[in-house]
Amino acid sequence: MATEKVSRVGVVGAGQMGGGIAEVCARAHTDVLVYESSRELCVAGRSRILRSLDRGVSSGKLTEREREQAVSRLRFTSDIGDFADRQFVVEAVVEDEAVKTRIFSDLDKVVADPDAVLASNTSSIPIMKLGMATQDAGRVIGMHFFNPVPVLPLVELVTTLMTSPDVSTRAEDFAHDVLGKQVVKSADRSGFVVNALLVPYLLSAIRMVESGFATVEDVDKAMVLGCAHPMGPLKLADLVGLDTVKAIADSMYEEFKEPLFAPPPQLLRMVEAGRLGKKAGRGFYPYAENGTAK
Ligand code: 3HC
Repeated sequence: MATEKVSRVGVVGAGQMGGGIAEVCARAHTDVLVYESSRELCVAGRSRILRSLDRGVSSGKLTEREREQAVSRLRFTSDIGDFADRQFVVEAVVEDEAVKTRIFSDLDKVVADPDAVLASNTSSIPIMKLGMATQDAGRVIGMHFFNPVPVLPLVELVTTLMTSPDVSTRAEDFAHDVLGKQVVKSADRSGFVVNALLVPYLLSAIRMVESGFATVEDVDKAMVLGCAHPMGPLKLADLVGLDTVKAIADSMYEEFKEPLFAPPPQLLRMVEAGRLGKKAGRGFYPYAENGTAK
């Protein structure tokens, strides 16, 4: 059983989720190594994290000194071999089963400590599929964060039939005691708790717009003003990324075969058109360079 406190974290992927997870780990005083597949993506990921830290400072959540300390704890690499000494790795790449299983197979070979935890931030892919890409599925677990990661306090913890109880305890302690997140536990079913409830709601909102039932603006306004949601479902779909919403819907549809999980044609066309939401500058809304809806 591993008792050493986690101080060396690896994050695979520096997109909006990976960047957010890396930022939260660095703010929690761990040494963070972030992997991206190219130098350019490392640079882009670093800039995104710096912008978020700046936002933390300007909104009074972080001091200048804390920001500088967090920056000093972050390093980037495009060689997964550099993860050899990591004690806890969180994978947060694109929601694609083939890509994720390849990464878990690589991590399994590279991360030397047999007690190291290999966690996935997948939104919907059953964790067992990732565990079985390794030689030791006992050290694989789901650790699902929410966007924006520095702001939303939840982590869903997903253990499989194979996850060892020690790994589950260490992942929970890391999420709660080190990162300061609240933990809920979910069975290893596609979508876990939050997306199994959230994604059918987002898809229903898209179908509502598609059928001419109500406009994008009115659907969002209705849920913000009528139900006190912080943002409406279409703006939230843009924030999550329409490609990600589609990928989650596909996984859940494959798992449960329920029509309510099937992505509607309008979502498919928008993804094909590259209108992926906030990160692409256009989704249900257009976005300015700084990410605000125009
Ligand atoms: N670091 C620290 N704090 C930050 C920050 C950062 N980088 N960015 C913002 N904040 C803080 C602000 O200081 C503010 O705190 P306060 O309420 O104490 O003043 C708070 O976060 C809200 O920020 P803003 O006032 O700048 O922005 P808004 O009020 O417009 O809120 C929002 C933006 C946080 C995105 C809010 O609209 C929201 O929570 N929306 C819902 C998001 C949601 O549902 N996410 C889950 C998506 S599902 C998912 O991620 C799972 C995946 O698998 C799909």
